[in-house]
Amino acid sequence: MTASQSVTTVHRRSGRLAIHGGTPVRPAERGWPQWPQPTAQSSSNVEAVLRSGRWAITSPGTSPLFERRFASDFAGYLNARHCVPVDHGSSALLIALESLRLDHGDVVLVPALTWVASASAVLRAGLVPVLVDVRADTGCIDPASIDLDVSFRAVIAVHWAAAMANIPAMEKVLEPRGIPIIEDAAQAHGAQWLGRSAGTLGRLGCFSMQHSKVLTGGEGGAVVTDDDELAPVLEELRADSRRYARAGETSKLGLVTSASIMGANLCMSEWSAAVLCAQLELLDAQHETRRRNYALLNELLADVPGMRLLRPPAEQNRMSVYELPFIFDSLPEGVTTDRVAEAMTAELGTHFYVPREPLGRSPFLQPWTKPTIKPLAERFMELNRDRSHPNAEKLARSAVLTHHSTLLGGEEDMADVADAVVKVVNGLSDERWDRRR
Ligand SMILES: Cc1ncc(COP(=O)(O)O)c(C=O)c1O
Repeated sequence: MTASQSVTTVHRRSGRLAIHGGTPVRPAERGWPQWPQPTAQSSSNVEAVLRSGRWAITSPGTSPLFERRFASDFAGYLNARHCVPVDHGSSALLIALESLRLDHGDVVLVPALTWVASASAVLRAGLVPVLVDVRADTGCIDPASIDLDVSFRAVIAVHWAAAMANIPAMEKVLEPRGIPIIEDAAQAHGAQWLGRSAGTLGRLGCFSMQHSKVLTGGEGGAVVTDDDELAPVLEELRADSRRYARAGETSKLGLVTSASIMGANLCMSEWSAAVLCAQLELLDAQHETRRRNYALLNELLADVPGMRLLRPPAEQNRMSVYELPFIFDSLPEGVTTDRVAEAMTAELGTHFYVPREPLGRSPFLQPWTKPTIKPLAERFMELNRDRSHPNAEKLARSAVLTHHSTLLGGEEDMADVADAVVKVVNGLSDERWDRRR
């Protein structure tokens, strides 16, 4: 760094905060990378659907379906044997649970720090989520804290933000007891654990392709599995008890009424599939940019006391950053992460925010508000009443997040982020001091 660069850096890292009317680290006219990032291929795929006359997998016709192509491309990307696309990540979790043919009211363990769908899907499947704590370092379910004194029939392991849950360690404990793991990989498309993709380590893997995700078709989801018996069951569950015709079977729509299990219509639309086929082609290049920027930010922030970036486990050889967590282990007295997020947003002109409340006190997870699931809600309250989730609470209190698109920029953008972190932490401790005087 030259002398004039270091003077500029010092200047940018001090001074009045933008939330107090000071000059922001980054001028408003310098925008951030857009999200999503469609290509010419996305447009031409959508155009092809428009003209194909087949806008759904249940449309009559013979032109090839993007839904079939996406299933095959995504399975290939992850190295999974089967992929069943669905309309939402929530539906992926629902049919994954239903495919296990558990009994009504059975317990499923769910980490306390996740989006509500990981737990609400359990209730929708007629089961009861019991919330368990996460690891303080990764935000993912801790194999050591799986509560063996509660009788449970399945575990949903969420890969959180940028880190993967340790599925092999959980398998060691759960496999001998015949308890399956469903990976909720809605935030981890393409992440890898010792060379194996998130979603392919457990019995079933679930993905969301909703707008904010690293792979998106606006709305969408998918279940992947290597289990040849579960795959046709998943197909039925999402297409009103119909599965794809196999070699030798004839069917007008390409679907046969196999009806081994009652399903619902949770099919992915051709619009989403067409966009997803194109977006999947970009995913690895985008991952690479995010990983490079993550590493750079780590370096730039190494000397900032009391804060760190979330560090994935050593076995995770490939990151997929969905949200980038800045963890503030020690903030100056009286400074909250809410205030840090507000101040960072003002300095940088892109959104910084704090994690949602852990599910034990989330306004999104109130099953007692739904009369049709009253008995499940009562059991949910009974089983979760006395549970605490200290690591989830601590992470929710100490993390500030930004969307992965912030990491799709270049080195200068990362320098802005690092400068803003330092400026905000210093500025907010001064704010406390000023208030006291
Ligand atoms: C961890 C997790 N699970 C499940 C979902 C649900 O996906 P969808 O919104 O596509 O239903 C999400 C979406 O944010 C998620 O983050």
